[in-house]
Amino acid sequence: MDTHEIFNDSYARCQRNKSFFLIFYRHFWQKDQRFEDLFKNVDMEQQIRMLKLSISMIMLASSSDQAREGIRRFGKIHGREGIGVQPNDFEAWLDSLIEAVSICDPKYNDEIALAWRQCFKQGIAIMKEECQ
Ligand code: HEM
Repeated sequence: MDTHEIFNDSYARCQRNKSFFLIFYRHFWQKDQRFEDLFKNVDMEQQIRMLKLSISMIMLASSSDQAREGIRRFGKIHGREGIGVQPNDFEAWLDSLIEAVSICDPKYNDEIALAWRQCFKQGIAIMKEECQ
């Protein structure tokens, strides 16, 4: 199985747990008070829809120009003149996502964690670059 297949199967198992995205946000907010504060007035149902879309976009980053363009736009929105996210925050974001995977994917192991990291690598790099 290649990296994308490992990721796809794992993501499908995660989504069988209705709390997957909430578990992610709970872990993320625990990493920094700033993160929790940023989401205080955000409609979480809408945010979770956005997160699902973002995950698909980030995944396509390595193969699609259009996805890369979209991610550049996301990056700019998060930057200094927008939400004010710092490049390192994306590491906390990805760590939290993988923590949620470790809880929700019953088949979770090191190979699966690596596949998630691999699949998000390019998209996260673009977000970091554009948010500065
Ligand atoms: C790869 C990682 C990430 C992706 C793909 C992503 C994607 C998005 C997208 C697409 C939106 C909606 C933008 C809009 O149209 O208004 C959004 C909003 C937001 N993001 Fe992110 N994000 C990521 C990481 C982060 C991180 C690390 C933080 C905080 C440290 C963050 C905080 C927020 C906040 C506070 C909003 C605004 C919600 C609102 O006011 O409605 N995001 N994100």
